[in-house]
Amino acid sequence: MQKLFGKTALVTGASAGIGQATASALIAAGARVICSARRLARLDSLVAKLGANAIALELDVCDAASVHSLDSRLPDQWRGIDILINNAGHDAGGRRPFHQGSIDEWSAIIETNVMGLVRVTHKVVENMVSRNRGHIVNIGSIAGIQPYATGTIYSGSKHAVHGFSESLRLDYAGTGIRVTEILPGLVRTDFAMTRWNDDVKAAAFYDQTEQCLTPEDIAETVVFALEQPPHVVLSQMVVLPSSG
Ligand SMILES: NC(=O)c1ccc[n+]([C@@H]2O[C@H](COP(=O)([O-])OP(=O)(O)OC[C@H]3O[C@@H](n4cnc5c(N)ncnc54)[C@H](OP(=O)(O)O)[C@@H]3O)[C@@H](O)[C@H]2O)c1
Repeated sequence: MQKLFGKTALVTGASAGIGQATASALIAAGARVICSARRLARLDSLVAKLGANAIALELDVCDAASVHSLDSRLPDQWRGIDILINNAGHDAGGRRPFHQGSIDEWSAIIETNVMGLVRVTHKVVENMVSRNRGHIVNIGSIAGIQPYATGTIYSGSKHAVHGFSESLRLDYAGTGIRVTEILPGLVRTDFAMTRWNDDVKAAAFYDQTEQCLTPEDIAETVVFALEQPPHVVLSQMVVLPSSG
């Protein structure tokens, strides 16, 4: 019996990397998946591969109207979201000393990684509270507990996700709503490409690293956390390459 059979999941940032791999892993685990992001064409091709248990939803986590209209843009039978995977995020313009980044770049990182996650959670948790059930998985980062030079804003945003996740879990402790934070180390995705807007630099960055995780490694930990029995919550999972 697939433990997630019949559950409806919403994955943000499902058009690439960890979100895309998580959408696939959730389908394999029996869930129905709403694959959301801004790039609808990429979602459409993902959904074509995943089959009838997946649908695509254009969703910009930074756009209040887009998030607010989420339910009304879903078919009726997809509206009761049981699982929320808050994955959308980036570090565009990052990996620079603080004074070298523009305030617009810094604010876009915080707006996406922190306020986007808060906005989607606020929208989706309402229905979870009324049904007294749900599981929220926030994709944080090792940077959320281990700051590094040139990471002021990204690391700061993930520290916010860390604090938010733990407080949120405590808000709903003793109810049917569970909160898990996954804190990955380096994963080879489009993340570095988005950071520098430079494919060659991004590939070199990953190539010079002894070992990177794959998006599928993180997707498996997400499913593992979701498959725990109702009395168990994996509050935080730090997932690192075994090389350190
Ligand atoms: N890669 C790593 O080493 C690593 C390590 C630790 C944590 N993480 C975290 O993992 C998460 C996923 O990153 P990734 O590595 O998979 O990067 P990725 O391959 O670049 O994917 C990022 C995803 O976020 C989505 N996104 C960005 N801004 C969005 C917005 N405003 N609204 C909706 N979706 C948005 C993108 O979709 P669209 O552009 O189509 O909207 C894309 O699907 C992020 O939160 C990141 O901080 C990554």
